Amino acid sequence: METREARIGIVGMGYVGLPLALLFSGERFRVTGFDVEARKVSTLNAGGSYIVRILPEAIQEAQKAGFRATADYTEIEQMDAVIICVPTPLNEHHEPDLSYVTGTVESIAPHIHEDQLIVLESTTYPGTTEEIVRPILEAGNPLGLKVARTLDEIGVHLAFSPEREDPGNDSVARHDIPKVVGGCGPASSELAAALYGSIFRHVVPVSSPSVAEMTKLLENIYRCVNIALVNELKQLCMRMGIDIHEVIDAAKTKPFGFQAFYPGPGLGGHCIPIDPFYLSWKAKEFDFQTRFIELAGEVNSSMPYFVIDQLAAGLNEQRKSIKGSKVLVLGLAYKRDIDDLRESPSLTIIELLRDKGALVAYNDPFFPTVGHGRHYDLNMTNTPLDNLGQYDAVVIVTDHSDYDYKAIVEQSQLVIDTRNATRGIESLRIVRC
Ligand SMILES: NC(=O)c1ccc[n+]([C@@H]2O[C@H](COP(=O)([O-])OP(=O)(O)OC[C@H]3O[C@@H](n4cnc5c(N)ncnc54)[C@H](O)[C@@H]3O)[C@@H](O)[C@H]2O)c1
Repeated sequence: METREARIGIVGMGYVGLPLALLFSGERFRVTGFDVEARKVSTLNAGGSYIVRILPEAIQEAQKAGFRATADYTEIEQMDAVIICVPTPLNEHHEPDLSYVTGTVESIAPHIHEDQLIVLESTTYPGTTEEIVRPILEAGNPLGLKVARTLDEIGVHLAFSPEREDPGNDSVARHDIPKVVGGCGPASSELAAALYGSIFRHVVPVSSPSVAEMTKLLENIYRCVNIALVNELKQLCMRMGIDIHEVIDAAKTKPFGFQAFYPGPGLGGHCIPIDPFYLSWKAKEFDFQTRFIELAGEVNSSMPYFVIDQLAAGLNEQRKSIKGSKVLVLGLAYKRDIDDLRESPSLTIIELLRDKGALVAYNDPFFPTVGHGRHYDLNMTNTPLDNLGQYDAVVIVTDHSDYDYKAIVEQSQLVIDTRNATRGIESLRIVRC
């Protein structure tokens, strides 16, 4: 690793795997990206990108350092370290779906070799690396390799290291985000720490993969619970005639013991709405109820319904009903200035509005069209931001920076603002919720 001879394979060229590949390439490592989606492999090999905030030039720069993509798992044999960054969603029963992880490990197991380091980065419940990944690796390789526990034991090395990527947040450089690492024994820990130490300034070694897995979940549950808290307090504040945002702004002047979280239309993204339930599922094995997680889930998942109630009340003031009203949803992405709509509350809000008979359109510069996904079936195209007066209501669900909120308020009949995007703008046409 020190001499940059180590070859790095990254499995899963998505929002996590691709930036990680670029980070290693930037440090002169030869990186191979593995993905099952042929479109992604060919785009990357043609020097292109499919993630808005990653420019094609960054891919081309990485190619100069030897970066290429492939769908061929036999190339795992040539790698010294393999990092797995595949999805870990929930299934339709709200239970962990580890099929991408197990499928990946089954595919790489026949090609692993002695002294190779395998690291799982996908967010998951404590125990996955030891209880799920290790047995598949050990059973699936023809050499009969085991995970080595000491540095002189012959075998393969295995660790877990959670990803702390926060898309769209450029306040901290990626290499300045400390990297937590937990290996299956000291040998794996040492190798994993050396691997990440070559691209991150601070590596935080912990005693086991389970501690590292739990660390990631604690971070995300902390966010999930605190967002639920402000979402609940927002609803109380609205009844009391208090502006929750003014309260939060005042509270965050406290220099210790308080961290600001903001209310919104509901959770979105691949992490906060999903990861906590990995833990609550695992907890049942220990006859334990994770009540904070369940309660936070209940509050957060009710928020899109709350937005619909506020819209109904706003229309009611104008002697209108949701049924038959023309409604424009602003923003599909689950948060500002990104091109990711996974679990976005906008999708739920659009579906709820359609169910109630509204005529729904959307605008989002990041999504020219939206088709169907695991939990939605919309088939819509982006509507230009003109003639806003034709809509009975405009609902701001994602507060993209490029929107001119003053102009939006001036041109609209009714604005439902779920993000406090219209702060500072005085108008009776705005319902802030
Ligand atoms: N997106 C984030 O901000 C973020 C942050 C922290 C942690 N995570 C975690 O990181 C993991 C990956 O998330 P993501 O956002 O990058 O997902 P993603 O869907 O953007 O990317 C996953 C990639 O894996 C590929 N893939 C699926 N199965 C494969 C297989 N068997 N072999 C090779 N490639 C395969 C997919 O085609 C896709 O390109 C998840 O566990 C997620 O919870 C994500």
